[in-house]
Amino acid sequence: KNIGIIYGGYSSEIVVSEKSKDGVLSFIDETIYNRYPILITKEKWCAVIDGNEYPIDKNDFSFQMNGSKITIDCAYITIHGTPGEDGLLQGYLKMLNIPHSTCDVEPAAISFNKFTCNTYLKGFGVAVADSVLLRKGHEYNAEGIVEQLGLPLFVKPNAGGSSFGISKVKESNELTPSIAKAFTESNEVIIEQFISGTEVTCGLYKTLNKEVKLPITEVVSKNEFFDFEAKYTAEKVEEITPARIEDKVRDRIQSISSLIYDILGCKGIVRIDYIISDNKIYLLEVNTTPGMTVTSFIPQQIAAAGLDIKDVFSEIIEDQIA
Ligand code: DAL
Ligand code: MG
Repeated sequence: KNIGIIYGGYSSEIVVSEKSKDGVLSFIDETIYNRYPILITKEKWCAVIDGNEYPIDKNDFSFQMNGSKITIDCAYITIHGTPGEDGLLQGYLKMLNIPHSTCDVEPAAISFNKFTCNTYLKGFGVAVADSVLLRKGHEYNAEGIVEQLGLPLFVKPNAGGSSFGISKVKESNELTPSIAKAFTESNEVIIEQFISGTEVTCGLYKTLNKEVKLPITEVVSKNEFFDFEAKYTAEKVEEITPARIEDKVRDRIQSISSLIYDILGCKGIVRIDYIISDNKIYLLEVNTTPGMTVTSFIPQQIAAAGLDIKDVFSEIIEDQIA
């Protein structure tokens, strides 16, 4: 079977996707599958094999290599941000009837819009920080926002990842420049109340007849928050798996994660981030194409669970093509 590992993307997270592709390439068993990395950027779509680029035929997602046509039996999307985490690519693959081992259109589209996702899940009893949504070009009242949410607060691109464009605002006068910065990454900006507590992240996946809840990781950032530098610089963060939390808190987080997975209708490996504050568990966000670099949380959690990562990837691929 031919597996297309799709990476790249149109957002700042392209630099992370490059590394996630290397991870996924090493996690897919080469003795079982043919692995083809496929780069999608604003400029080009091509398979990248041994340093050579083979243009993709967008009519059927195939490419020509050494005189033969290669078609993809199953895709693994490891683009973070648009168009790989927001449902666009999922829709394209669905129209071509090409299975893929990550979330489908709806869960990707809902979860990549932080405001929509929070509001939707709040309706199911999931705790989330209070927030305000701003649209590019619309007026807003900075004073009113500070009054409503208090300080500090977080300003985030509403559709983004890896902390690009995020600021923690401690003084009112930082709010307007922080909003402008967030708008460089997304057409909408979400401003969230700051919740102080322990940050944790929970990976999980389900297949037709199996549910695997991975051990939870505790994140101790040495920066002001878990920003881009802390996310991708080993010395700037302590990532502790399993998290130093009580068993009952762990169980609760895993069951909320499983519930969110089902409410959104997820597929494949998903990672959900939370803040635990005064024993209350607040959702931060749902990542439907979580980081897959060799040192990312998911590979750490799979190792901590005593699972073989190649077996896990075979399992989720087979779940789509069997
Ligand atoms: N957005 C990054 C890749 C993550 O959530 O892991
Ligand atoms: Mg994220």
